Amino acid sequence: MVEFSPDTKVVILTGAGISAESGIKTFRASDGLWENHAIEDVATPYAWERDPELVWNFYQGRRSQLKEVEPNPAHQALVILEQYLGDNLLLVTQNVDDLHSRAGSKNLIHMHGELRILRCEECHETFDMMEKEHLTDQYVPCPSCSNQRLRPHIVWFHEMPFQLPEIYAAVEECDVFMTIGTSGHVYPAAGLIDVAKQSGALCVGVNLDEPMNYELHDEFHQGKAGELLPNLVNEWLS
Ligand code: OAD
Repeated sequence: MVEFSPDTKVVILTGAGISAESGIKTFRASDGLWENHAIEDVATPYAWERDPELVWNFYQGRRSQLKEVEPNPAHQALVILEQYLGDNLLLVTQNVDDLHSRAGSKNLIHMHGELRILRCEECHETFDMMEKEHLTDQYVPCPSCSNQRLRPHIVWFHEMPFQLPEIYAAVEECDVFMTIGTSGHVYPAAGLIDVAKQSGALCVGVNLDEPMNYELHDEFHQGKAGELLPNLVNEWLS
């Protein structure tokens, strides 16, 4: 049973399931297709090299969708937890949407990148670009150099997730490790629970179905995050 004091060190790993109730499709919901595309056709550096227009238009669709979705009670519950734990809570998300930060989460790492941001492969600068003129099917040129085509700031398959040293350091130190809305298919994120377990953390899961690494959880709550988390956070803090 989880018990929290303001000194409890917590790392939470979220995945697509936490945004499902906001209307964003999960990755593995429909036979390996993501919004009608095979992941390898749109989410690898090779796809970007081979067919940049397809990849660009796919991500422009995902970026535009951010304007139509709102954080749900699960995102909001994690903000309440952060208000109690302060810097002792690190939220690590695999999600590329902006719903955690729009809900108000502050101590947040987007390990797989962010849809809001475009990156220059020449000068390596990143830009938060969500105005109307940035969301069309035209490529967006780099404001800092002569490159005419920024890329999505997304960690594609075969690329290295962001801020891994910070994530591992926090997981090795935490008292409680939680997974929420993630299927446990994609590494290294799916392996963080092994690190947490080896370091003696209590591992808690909240998911609609049993994830691949289900047996590593000490406590598991099956159901929709938006329905379960507000009550769980309430219980944990009372
Ligand atoms: P998945 O689509 O693999 O898994 C989503 C999980 O959320 C599943 O286990 C569902 O059962 C669960 N789920 C669905 N609705 C839910 C709800 N309302 N409440 C709670 N759980 C719910 O997504 P991820 O595990 O996030 O990587 O996928 C990991 C990575 O694979 C993604 O970050 C992405 C993808 O390829 C990259 O793009 C690099």
